[in-house]
Amino acid sequence: LKAIRDLSYPIYIEQDNVKTFQEVFSNHVNQSRAFVVTDDNVWTLHRQVFMEMTSNLLIETIVVKPGEQSKSFEVFESLIQTLINKQIKRDDVIIAFGGGVIGDLAGFVAASLFRGISLIHIPTTVLAQVDSSIGSKVGINVSSGKNLVGAFKDPVFVYTFMPFLNTLTTREFNNGMAEVIKAGAIYDGSIIDDLQQKSFDMSILVKAIMVKVNVVKKDKYEHELRMILNFGHTLGHAIEKAHNYDVIKHGEAISLGMKYALLLGEKYGITDASTTKTLLSLFDKYNLLNHTLNDINSYIEFMKVDKKQRQDGLKFVFIESIGKAVIRRLKEEDLYVN
Ligand SMILES: NC(=O)c1ccc[n+]([C@@H]2O[C@H](COP(=O)([O-])OP(=O)(O)OC[C@H]3O[C@@H](n4cnc5c(N)ncnc54)[C@H](O)[C@@H]3O)[C@@H](O)[C@H]2O)c1
Repeated sequence: LKAIRDLSYPIYIEQDNVKTFQEVFSNHVNQSRAFVVTDDNVWTLHRQVFMEMTSNLLIETIVVKPGEQSKSFEVFESLIQTLINKQIKRDDVIIAFGGGVIGDLAGFVAASLFRGISLIHIPTTVLAQVDSSIGSKVGINVSSGKNLVGAFKDPVFVYTFMPFLNTLTTREFNNGMAEVIKAGAIYDGSIIDDLQQKSFDMSILVKAIMVKVNVVKKDKYEHELRMILNFGHTLGHAIEKAHNYDVIKHGEAISLGMKYALLLGEKYGITDASTTKTLLSLFDKYNLLNHTLNDINSYIEFMKVDKKQRQDGLKFVFIESIGKAVIRRLKEEDLYVN
């Protein structure tokens, strides 16, 4: 069991022994019952392991439908109602057991119910393990946009169990790998070397987690540094908005966004061609660039370029060299390629 203690809450990473959870839990929580929020897929696939993991606890389970649609006010409210019906108390604990959707949704419930009750993340996707379970952001979507309602909620701890990843579809696995490649591109170039030389393993997982940990440690509330985590996201979000969220996955959209940011970087003399080549070959390795897009320029209207950004310029993340991101201001007209 590996423990990362750089944030105000520890992140435990377990390679194969699910039994370590019980000790971790009892070291942090003074309770013998827990309310688990999970989705249908995760519960079907991993119920047994979860029960083994928590065999010393009294578990109440709430299973929601898988998918982004569950990050809604309706599901949020029904979850709160169900928890109250199940007699949850202020000093109880909620375990978010699933991907980023469950982490965000159950995390927001934990942040809001009784003005905050304890939260534990057990992330089960690559994306959730390296990204969404770290950094304390939780929230839901509203009709006008994603993640517009939310909070900062520190969990008591995060418990990452690598074997959960074994049941991911190739597409879901690759989707999370986009964030791993991003972590390497913006902060730790050795991740890129590793990915070129070997398949994904615990040491790469830990390195990718450390990138997010280091960035949010220095800048939890997104003043400047945390923005580098948005590499590829300016266009990526625009692509997600223009297409349906179900058609193109987040990791695929941001990979296309990273490709665009690399090419734009070349245009402005920030990124050199060999950096672009190395990173593009990794996106290809994980089948992340398979979507046919409309003319890239047509997405620019979907980028969140508001009136203020039109005047001051939009902060845009470029890669100077592998492992080093830089932020530059661009005017709207500078976003067009060619
Ligand atoms: N809070 C943050 O800082 C942050 C950061 C990045 C992304 N996010 C959010 O995360 C969400 C995306 O997360 P995601 O990609 O994990 O999506 P997800 O939670 O929808 O999971 C993807 C799919 O994989 C299934 N699944 C989960 N674990 C599995 C397993 N072990 N085996 C087989 N199938 C499994 C799920 O049921 C789902 O169908 C988005 O809502 C995004 O906004 C939040």
